Parts: sequence; structure tokens; C-alpha cells
Amino acid sequence: MYTEEEIKKAARDIVSAEKIVALTGAGISTESGIPDFRGTDGIWTKFDPDDFTYSKFIKNPANYWKMSLELGKLLLSVEPKPNPAHLALAKLEKLGKLRCIITQNVDGLHQLAGNTDVIEFHGNLRRVVCIVCGERFPYDLAIRKASDGELPPRCEKCNGILKPDAVLFEEPIPKYALDRSLEEARNCDLMIVIGTSAVVYPAAELPRIAKERDGYRMSLFGLYPADRVMTHKKGAKVIEINAEPTPLTGVVSDYLIEGKAGEILPKILREVERLLGL
Ligand code: OAD
Repeated sequence: MYTEEEIKKAARDIVSAEKIVALTGAGISTESGIPDFRGTDGIWTKFDPDDFTYSKFIKNPANYWKMSLELGKLLLSVEPKPNPAHLALAKLEKLGKLRCIITQNVDGLHQLAGNTDVIEFHGNLRRVVCIVCGERFPYDLAIRKASDGELPPRCEKCNGILKPDAVLFEEPIPKYALDRSLEEARNCDLMIVIGTSAVVYPAAELPRIAKERDGYRMSLFGLYPADRVMTHKKGAKVIEINAEPTPLTGVVSDYLIEGKAGEILPKILREVERLLGL
């Protein structure tokens, strides 16, 4: 469990950093009543992730939609309400202490909390997209069509098949989201990684990119022991806030603040405000 000293340390790191980026995962929304994927009651304990692949969707879109509606009930049934962790990130942005959020979440809660620059790395489940013409519609439209027996639901414009606008396994990350996230990871001097198990790629690569930025090994000119290899520029600091250690812990992240994001982030925010004299 986290300590007050860790909270203070994170606040000091935030105050002294200039380009701060947050990377969030499902763990930041569990305190809003939305289950995560790999926790004890996680979504992948009730559904098989292998069923949520692009090839399965293309093979049988009607069947895919039946499963997706069930999954949608789990993810979207609760009235979306940002929790104190989302609200603390929105406040950090207002204080000029958060450039943007890269989120793997498809619930739209960061935007509802008030963050204005949210990169949706895995899309958004509250939208659907036509796989033929690319037009996007609200998820509710697809639900209405599906409950009227239209399976798979079809595009209003071209009659093409509609797909949930969340990224499926095997699907590429939307180009805009990937390009911007890579740029932000390369340029930040602090990345705060919140509520992700960091096992799904390429999202899990972003903290590594932030950390290793320009720090590539210059061993071309001779044989060096690993700790003597020259590096160019120091990479970003990486702080993890998570209920448990992840593959980043002790390898990529400088430190882990272990516990609930909805408790930890407001405490860090209060300490940041205190340090800034607010
Ligand atoms: P996971 O479910 O894999 O991981 C959530 C992490 O958050 C776990 O390490 C939990 O211990 C932690 N956690 C849970 N509640 C928390 C809390 N209140 N405070 C802090 N930490 C908490 O979710 P993701 O890493 O987001 O893909 O999963 C990545 C991707 O895998 C998702 O985006 C999804 C899934 O397949 C798509 O939707 C495309």
C-alpha cells in the first residue's frame, strides 16, 4: 500500500516536470463501477478475448454483434460518471500540469471529467463505424437497430456493416492516435501510468518509449559493460499508480504508488496545489 512520502514525491515530480502525459487503463474507471478486463471480476473472466478479434467479426458480424451487445451491457450499463481519479486529472490539466491523456479506455470518462486533449488509443465504445464508408454513428443507433432485429446493424448512409468503434484484437491502432501518442511519449519528461496491467501492445510500449527516449545504446564503437554504455539524453520519469505491480514495475517505472487511483490522485493533486501555493 502507498505511503504519504510517495504521494509527496509524485507531487514534487509533477511540479518540477514541464511536459507531463498520462497513460490510463481500465483500472482508473473501476471506481466508476465499470469493471476492468483482467481483475478478479474482470471482463475477460466472463468473455473470451479470442472472440473479440477482427477476423471473427468479419467472418460472422451478426454473431459478433450478439456478443458485443452483451459486453456493451457490462461496459455501458452504468450511468457514466467520472470518479475522483478522472476529476484530479482534469484539474491537473487546468493547472497546466498535464499536456494530454493517452487512454486505452473506451468509456469517454476523461472527456466527461473535463480533459480537453484525450487520445483514444483503443477507440470509443459509445460510437460505431461503418466498415465500408467510415461514417460514425452513436452506439445507441446500433442498439436500436439490433433490438429491432437488424443484425448486424447497417450504415444509414451506404448500408455497409457497422462495427463498434473500439479497436478489436488484430486491428491496427487508429493512425492519428498512434502517431500522436508516439510523439507525446517521445517528448514528455514525465509519464504517469494509471490503472493498466501493461500487457496489451502497443499501448504498453509507450512508457518504454518515454523512458528510453534518445537513450539508445551507443555501443557501436567498442565493447562496453552494460552499465558503462553511453547514452544520449535522459529519458522521461515514469510513475505508476496501480492496485498491484505490473511488468513495468521495477523495470520501466521509476516507482509504483500502489493502491486505488481514486484515492491516490486527489491526494497528489492536493499536494501539487500546496506546492504551487494555491
Ligand atoms: P486491465 O484489466 O488489464 O488492467 C487493469 C489494471 O488496473 C490492473 O493492473 C488492476 O490491478 C488495476 N486496477 C484496478 N482497479 C484499480 C483502481 N481502482 N486503482 C488503480 N488500479 C486499479 O486493463 P487495461 O490495462 O486497460 O482492449 O487493458 C488493456 C486493454 O486490454 C484494454 O484497453 C482492452 C483490453 O483487452 C480494448 O478494449 C481494445
